[in-house]
Amino acid sequence: MAELSRRRLLSAGAVVLGGTGLAWGAREVTLDQGPQAAPPAPTEPEVEPFYGAHQAGIATAPQAHSTFVALDLRPEVDRAALIRLLKVWTEDAARLTEGRAALADTEPDLATEPTRLTVTVGFGPGVFRAGNVEHLRPAWLRPLPPFAVDRLEDRWSGGDLLLQVGAEDPVTVAHALRVLLKGAAGFGTVRWTQRGFRRARGTQAPGTTMRNLFGQVDGTANPSPGTADFSDLVWDTGAGQAWMAGGTSVVIRRTHLDLDEWDKVDRPGREQSVGRRLSDGAPLTGDSEHDEPDFAAVGASGFPVIPEFSHIARARSADPRQRIHRRGYNYDEAPASGEISDSGLIFVCYQADVDAQFVPIQQRLSELDMLNQWTTPIGSAVFAIPPGCAKGGYIGQQLLGS
Ligand code: HEM
Repeated sequence: MAELSRRRLLSAGAVVLGGTGLAWGAREVTLDQGPQAAPPAPTEPEVEPFYGAHQAGIATAPQAHSTFVALDLRPEVDRAALIRLLKVWTEDAARLTEGRAALADTEPDLATEPTRLTVTVGFGPGVFRAGNVEHLRPAWLRPLPPFAVDRLEDRWSGGDLLLQVGAEDPVTVAHALRVLLKGAAGFGTVRWTQRGFRRARGTQAPGTTMRNLFGQVDGTANPSPGTADFSDLVWDTGAGQAWMAGGTSVVIRRTHLDLDEWDKVDRPGREQSVGRRLSDGAPLTGDSEHDEPDFAAVGASGFPVIPEFSHIARARSADPRQRIHRRGYNYDEAPASGEISDSGLIFVCYQADVDAQFVPIQQRLSELDMLNQWTTPIGSAVFAIPPGCAKGGYIGQQLLGS
């Protein structure tokens, strides 16, 4: 008998034995069926729309799993080849997100559970070179300026093309990626792959802010998808490059978290380093997660309650334009020999303009942020995320034409 079943039986038995022997027998049958009962039906819709003004996977409520893959284009790839690849990716992604097998799907049975699959395509500077459309490259699309905190490794940095594939189920992610990468085989090679995760669906109420592997509630101060504020901060207006209207940019910073050193810090120290409570993410001056932090409040000692060098004090700007949409994922890889873990955060954020929004925040944090003691950026990449497309079109059409 399964351990769960035996335990449930024993505790139920203690209650029922106070009654009649008959009751015990009847109860036993019922309880034994417990562990075989069907799991609760998913509460989220399974299909995220693929077509639309914007690509999915940005304003979409984050799925439990997301893999980010950067590709290097083969030198012979030109504009016509790029168009061919993007048409195949668009067709396959649209089908897979709807729970239909891709056109040349060798494992069509894996396509039937999309579990909110989204596929998001990004363009690095190489796409503009290959497509001979350098003059249409957004001004901010280039490697970030160097920051003092950076310890960047080539194996996690750069790339010509990005595939961001998210779903509630890791098998769905693996299958979709395999299909899309097979489609890209003649066009490019994988430069890096970063696999990220959040809590499994069903473990917390939908909309709960994620926790990173430091145990912090991470993602509270974010613009709300669907609001005018979100649109202003995230979607490109087309003012710089007309073809980018409805698109955005993504910055992906693989950041190693030193869990061994973090383990040595007491709870008040950990909370002060960020400026928020660990239990619920409330600011140190507030009662609940979404309370506005009061940076002017001072404690009995005369010092600010939220330290000036805390992460949130340093990340926040008086300029309302200096905000970003963070949508990061945890990573946890096999440790090097002798180490306990290799863990961190795939820091991911979207903004209409990297230079005006992301760079000044990262600059301030690089200069001073108590969290820097335990965090090290080891990878960095920037991509333009083209707008979405309508049925019959393809991702990137606004840039490359038909
Ligand atoms: C990888 C290490 C990092 C960790 C563990 C981390 C963690 C956190 C946590 C726990 C919060 C408070 C809760 C929240 O509002 O989400 C926060 C806020 C924030 N972080 Fe980070 N963060 C990291 C890196 C970064 C980077 C690289 C940036 C941008 C350059 C950034 C920008 C922000 C911003 C803008 C806020 C909101 C501040 C506010 O207005 O209250 N963080 N981060």
